[in-house]
Amino acid sequence: MRVLILGADGYLGWPTCMYFSERGHEVIGVDNYFRRNAAVELDCESLTPTPNLIQRTKIWEEITGKKISIHTGDITNYEFLLSIFKEYNPDTVIHYAEQPSAPYSMINRDKAAFTLQNNLITTLNILYAVKEVNPDCHIIKLGTMGEYGTPNIDIEEGWLEIEHKNRKDKFLFPRQAGSLYHTTKIQDTDMLWFYVRTWGLRVTDLMQGPVYGLSTDESDRDPRLISIFNYDEIFGTVLNRFIVQAVAGYPLTVYGKGNQTRGFLNLKDTMQCVYLSAGQSAEKGQLRIFNQMTEPFSINQLAEKVKTIGDKLGYSVEINRIENPRVEKEEHYYNVHYTGLIDLGLKPHYLTDEVLEGFFTITDKYRDRINKDAFFRGIQWK
Ligand SMILES: NC(=O)c1ccc[n+]([C@@H]2O[C@H](COP(=O)([O-])OP(=O)(O)OC[C@H]3O[C@@H](n4cnc5c(N)ncnc54)[C@H](O)[C@@H]3O)[C@@H](O)[C@H]2O)c1
Repeated sequence: MRVLILGADGYLGWPTCMYFSERGHEVIGVDNYFRRNAAVELDCESLTPTPNLIQRTKIWEEITGKKISIHTGDITNYEFLLSIFKEYNPDTVIHYAEQPSAPYSMINRDKAAFTLQNNLITTLNILYAVKEVNPDCHIIKLGTMGEYGTPNIDIEEGWLEIEHKNRKDKFLFPRQAGSLYHTTKIQDTDMLWFYVRTWGLRVTDLMQGPVYGLSTDESDRDPRLISIFNYDEIFGTVLNRFIVQAVAGYPLTVYGKGNQTRGFLNLKDTMQCVYLSAGQSAEKGQLRIFNQMTEPFSINQLAEKVKTIGDKLGYSVEINRIENPRVEKEEHYYNVHYTGLIDLGLKPHYLTDEVLEGFFTITDKYRDRINKDAFFRGIQWK
């Protein structure tokens, strides 16, 4: 396959570049360094020191002999994106290149407007470039489990059959965002569905839960290949935050009652899910949706797990329940169906004590880089 990875410098993008390259595919990566620049602006840089993309691909080539092509640019610029599509004519495009943080989108109007503009225009441009250059190209788009919110019914895999006044039809599962960021993801899905119906494109939309972890088989070969990793309130996902807080001796920041439940997955499983989806494409004219998670946990359950393992390793972890800066249900029903990716061949890496211990060990190597001021500033939803 010739795979175009948009957002290649990111937490998921860089490990994905290596994962496909390792398996013999031609990889082209694109990024505009939005994430790195935003982290500098907000003083919440990556725990891990990460060379830029061009330097990382040189290291990768030095170790494996495999090439990854890199282009720096903004994919909201249609001419730029189109030139990449024309140069490479990819079979598969993986779209990670969005503003991925709910708190970032809630900081102020400008950050909300940026999120809206960036996320929707990147998606629109990809749809147009695919139509113009090769309508057979498979689009793999990262959505989020947060699109569904926390409804008081089971969450199905993307679609819901509804019977109304003795008639039946199938619709996108109802969506209710918990932030402006999540709203853009819902709008992306709607847009994908519109163009799939209208232009007959092939699209897989992965409703991904919060990802945790720092290690992949590829990055374990050389510390210079490790991904960017945020542990701050803005860009850090919850378990990644908790582990770094535990290592730093900072009480774990549980928001509100801590009974909020979400579906999580290991970084290694994101790689598998995207790879399996690419290898078994959606059909022409199909919007295929998978719920990309491997286990549900409440925030309290995660905090307790981190405390148990952290204490065992000698960190003496404290848990601090703080007033919830977000507007969200703290007690709710949560039952998600997520068999589609297992059916494609996913072999989950569950959150065992051993996995958590490994996570502590790798995080501890970077403890001197922890900036405690980044842990919590209390970005308010209200
Ligand atoms: N990490 C998670 O837990 C998680 C969970 C659910 C969904 N997702 C989704 O997965 C995708 C990747 O997430 P991530 O954690 O790797 O985020 P990330 O911020 O680390 O990666 C996204 C990359 O895209 C780049 N980018 C953004 N806008 C761009 C543009 N206009 N042009 C070129 N490059 C641009 C950024 O610089 C960044 O390197 C996002 O769409 C996110 O919403 C992530």
